[in-house]
Amino acid sequence: MNVCIIGTGYVGLTTGTCLAFLGHKVTCVDSDEKKIALLQAGQTPIYEPFLAELMAEANGNLRFTTDYAEAVPDARVIFIAVGTPPSPNGSPDLRYLSAAARGIGEHFDGDFAVVVNKSTVPIGSGNWVGSLVRESYEQQHGCKAGQRFAVASNPEFLREGTALSDSLFADRVVVGSDDARALEALYTLYRPILDQTFNAPTFLPRPEGIGAVPLISTDLASAELIKYAANAFLALKISFINEIGHLAEKVGADIVQVAKGIGLDARIGTRFLQAGLGWGGSCFGKDTAALVATASEYGLSMPIVAAAREINFRQRERVIEKLLAELKILKGRTIGILGLAFKPNTDDLRDAPAVEIARKLIQRGCKVKVHDPVAMDRFRSEHGDLGVICCDSVDQVCVDSDALILATEWPQYRDLHWEQLASKMRSAIVLDARNALDRDRLIRSGFRFLTIAGLEGSSGLPVAENVLPVEAAGLLV
Ligand SMILES: NC(=O)c1ccc[n+]([C@@H]2O[C@H](COP(=O)([O-])OP(=O)(O)OC[C@H]3O[C@@H](n4cnc5c(N)ncnc54)[C@H](O)[C@@H]3O)[C@@H](O)[C@H]2O)c1
Repeated sequence: MNVCIIGTGYVGLTTGTCLAFLGHKVTCVDSDEKKIALLQAGQTPIYEPFLAELMAEANGNLRFTTDYAEAVPDARVIFIAVGTPPSPNGSPDLRYLSAAARGIGEHFDGDFAVVVNKSTVPIGSGNWVGSLVRESYEQQHGCKAGQRFAVASNPEFLREGTALSDSLFADRVVVGSDDARALEALYTLYRPILDQTFNAPTFLPRPEGIGAVPLISTDLASAELIKYAANAFLALKISFINEIGHLAEKVGADIVQVAKGIGLDARIGTRFLQAGLGWGGSCFGKDTAALVATASEYGLSMPIVAAAREINFRQRERVIEKLLAELKILKGRTIGILGLAFKPNTDDLRDAPAVEIARKLIQRGCKVKVHDPVAMDRFRSEHGDLGVICCDSVDQVCVDSDALILATEWPQYRDLHWEQLASKMRSAIVLDARNALDRDRLIRSGFRFLTIAGLEGSSGLPVAENVLPVEAAGLLV
């Protein structure tokens, strides 16, 4: 199938690469010239394990351009995967979506295309996008659009860091449309994934036991709501365990054991029950805010979702409170932060807890040193004005620091030479905000070991849900 993807970020690039790998002819469009130049040169603008390898395998089927006229006119399926960042009142800023929809109407020149919202968009956006596409088609071509366009919603559930296997070996594919032609086209497009008939790449082997992938086919509004409901549920699961963790700390319970004890109940499940610093990234914060904003348009409040948000942001404050309780005075202290990306295996810094913690520490008069295995370049370009010291190694972070915060559970931080690092610090204090370090080893190495969320008594096993084996992710740095 001829496929066009508008917006070549984490979602658009992953989707385009996977569809091209499966044999579709894909053209990715982005308004960012620098990004497209990099992609045309065979480089990836984001860090995502195995993306470069899969792009190379898909090469003949995958093109990149900044020009809608090279991608849209004869596409059969046109995905919109542009950003939908939050505006100040919590509702998503839809200006990129609107520009993409208008660009499609203006440049389309065929008999029929399915326009698919892959961006996470508020309920009702499918209808809105359809009307924008038709309106701009009619303005440009001077004739009625008629039945030329069908609109669908195809929400994306990938997790950065495991985006490719999440797409190729999906838990489910959701497509929503009120037009049977759209559902049929998307069924054909996704068939190799639904039936798992493709040969998996050697570097991304098919997980054992995976059978046919369920296709959930719905009306437009239901597909749109599924995406928000899924993210809100995952977000509140994390906030739930953090709230219980706070109580665990007060009563002297071990939250890791508590999470295991409840998670092995099949009705609850163990995933997304890791207490710690809470969620970050481009989706949970934005999508929970959008859900609350949408509900308020209908006169509804969403107290559970609102509470999940509040608890999540409180975790970041608790890091500062813990350090304050330990060091008494923060002004003039040097604090090191290990890990900047909002989670391991990505360089995405959007709503990263580490960045907000760095900002809070600077506001309190601290000197802050930071390190991340892959996100340093992005950090320098996006947060160069923050006034922190960027370090090339963990050793540099530790020299003369008063405390260390582990903010992102990159696997390689677990196996550092902690004994030597302790001796470089002014005071060997570590706050493991992700429960990822070997507590006993750090204490043996001379560290005072702090945690948040009721992890004081826990064994500090690595519990990160998205961490690939270090070797598999090529992350032995
Ligand atoms: N990142 C994730 O993990 C994830 C997961 C599921 C869903 N989503 C949703 O998918 C959407 C995209 O997210 P992302 O993380 O890929 O965003 P991103 O910011 O990485 O990428 C968006 C891209 O769209 C481009 N763009 C903006 N306006 C354009 C236009 N008019 N024409 C062409 N290109 C344009 C930007 O230059 C950018 O490269 C969002 O709605 C997001 O909520 C993201």
